[in-house]
Amino acid sequence: MSSVPSTMKAVVCDKTGGPEVLRYTEDHPVPKLGDSDVLIKNKYGGINYIDTYFRTGLYPAPSWPLCLGQEGVGIVAALGGSNTFGLKEGDEVVWMKMGLTALSLVKEAYEVKKGDTILMHAAAGGVGLLMGQFLKDLGAVAIGTASTKEKCDLAKEHGYTHVINYKENPDWVAEVKKIAPDGVDCVFDAVGKTTWEGSLEAVKRKGSVIYFGNASGPVPPLNIALLAKKNTKIMRATVNQYIVTREELEFYTKLLFSYLKDGKLKVNIHKIYDLRDVQQAHKDLEGRLTTGKLLLKTS
Ligand SMILES: NC(=O)c1ccc[n+]([C@@H]2O[C@H](COP(=O)([O-])OP(=O)(O)OC[C@H]3O[C@@H](n4cnc5c(N)ncnc54)[C@H](OP(=O)(O)O)[C@@H]3O)[C@@H](O)[C@H]2O)c1
Repeated sequence: MSSVPSTMKAVVCDKTGGPEVLRYTEDHPVPKLGDSDVLIKNKYGGINYIDTYFRTGLYPAPSWPLCLGQEGVGIVAALGGSNTFGLKEGDEVVWMKMGLTALSLVKEAYEVKKGDTILMHAAAGGVGLLMGQFLKDLGAVAIGTASTKEKCDLAKEHGYTHVINYKENPDWVAEVKKIAPDGVDCVFDAVGKTTWEGSLEAVKRKGSVIYFGNASGPVPPLNIALLAKKNTKIMRATVNQYIVTREELEFYTKLLFSYLKDGKLKVNIHKIYDLRDVQQAHKDLEGRLTTGKLLLKTS
């Protein structure tokens, strides 16, 4: 612990707001280690849409000043007293709070079966490009939506059989019905405010709609009686409730690494931003200018 400095680079928010509240600093205090903690010096951090929800206040900040981040890769800089996992200083590690979203959605939120027809919104996004590949591997017919021709083309390269430009086609539900006249077995919807009603229309009788995010804003309070029209099942899913125990974490990480080792998963990195350019990264993500994953280079 003696070689660990007392301050570090970080991005912090002192209040909620737009990207301008993200403050890059080089003298943020290094966290104090608890008995079972591991201190990791990050090399790269991932940006997730949830970072924008904490920043804007859509989700309450866990603490102030707010230090964003859900995942990273780096080296073990120091260890607390009880070293449960046999780690040692200098080990290269990955840590994550929600990097396994797509797998938990297709395995548990709605267990995708061969032959299912599945609709996934924002198919060219970070979660979207992974979902397309998992859906294809599971034998589903994947229909994606995206807002530009370039995004539609990219989604097709990542497992989607059909991709609808839902910006050019406001009646995208009709386009889905041309492909699946009775509706789809399941819709995965993390766009939220602008798509939630269409998702309920696009699903077939006895189908499922899984809401799992709010890229366009949250889904408003829903009249549950609407679901009787087609006996629709709905769920609001979060990966944090699928991966709670060590066993659950190991199940999903092993599955992810088996996809990677078998060369069955393309990971599309949109751009690596310098940590000090975090404001631009948030602007690009919220401005719908990105595809795949955004990374921050932290050292
Ligand atoms: N519940 C969970 O556990 C969990 C975990 C991880 C992520 N998520 C959710 O999954 C979604 C995707 O996350 P991500 O990090 O991979 O982001 P992302 O999909 O890379 O970015 C969001 C995408 O949403 C689409 N979008 C549609 N309307 C939008 C609007 N008004 N403003 C901004 N974007 C809009 C855009 O794609 P187009 O331009 O193609 O429309 C945009 O690229 C987010 O809603 C996130 O909260 C949920």
